[in-house]
Amino acid sequence: MTNQEDYFYDFAMKLVLEAGLVLKISIEAKKTIKEKQGDWDLVTEYDQKIEDTIVGKLKQEFPNHKFIGEESTGANLPELTNDPTWIIDPIDGTMNFIHCFPHTCVVIGLAINKEVRIGIVYNPILEQLFTARKGRGAFLNGRPIKTSNIQDISKCLVCIEPGFLKVASLKNKMFERIQLITKKTHGVRTLGSAAITLCYIALGAVEGYHIEGPGISTWDIAAASLIISEAGGVVVDRVTGKTVDIMNPRAIGACNDKIAQELVKIIHEADRLAELNESQEKF
Ligand code: IPD
Repeated sequence: MTNQEDYFYDFAMKLVLEAGLVLKISIEAKKTIKEKQGDWDLVTEYDQKIEDTIVGKLKQEFPNHKFIGEESTGANLPELTNDPTWIIDPIDGTMNFIHCFPHTCVVIGLAINKEVRIGIVYNPILEQLFTARKGRGAFLNGRPIKTSNIQDISKCLVCIEPGFLKVASLKNKMFERIQLITKKTHGVRTLGSAAITLCYIALGAVEGYHIEGPGISTWDIAAASLIISEAGGVVVDRVTGKTVDIMNPRAIGACNDKIAQELVKIIHEADRLAELNESQEKF
């Protein structure tokens, strides 16, 4: 990491802590809630306000940098170039924020030459600040963290996102995936924030995570994928099993590649079962 990247990191850290304070103060406030793609995909005025503040300050400081943010970029994802690109989710876990469920966070990542170099995920409610810089390890509140070293899928705790059962095109597959993952692992959990869940793998609190669906995008996984890899884990594409493309996240996060590949297999099998059931229903 260059001195310049240290400066980027310090600047981003200041913004994350300021934004975290806004999130913490506003979690119990009355909010205006809007649906984006359905009642499983919500947004509040705080998502927009926090992103505007973060992006405004970054633009002022780094006018030549690029930006990808959940609220300003939306569905029209730009191409990731070699330019320094800030990737921002002002509130990841908006549904949790609305319900005062304490897993919600501010996320800032920075990619340079298409590689994530800085990742910061801050949950101000539980005072958990996850950080990573490329090649320098991963940290929770300044303390180094490592993924769990479990190698046996049946001993893993795995997180998933049942919200996507509400998406018609994914319903059958999600149902089979949840069922099969539950059968083949120690257990299943759901936290409702992709970034925090990936950080919990980095922390060694869970071993795996699968996320894929409409609205899931680069800001949900970019920063935390660096935090996982710096902690010894991986984030792979659930189809190819290779390193995930942060611009097309159909992701499996895991404490190590062995567990990631087991999850890839389970999801392939679940999808095959879903397709079989669908074709039988047609007859
Ligand atoms: C959400 C979270 C959640 C996932 C949702 C996402 P947001 O992000 O990452 O885990 O299930 O689909 O939309 O909207 O709170 O930034």
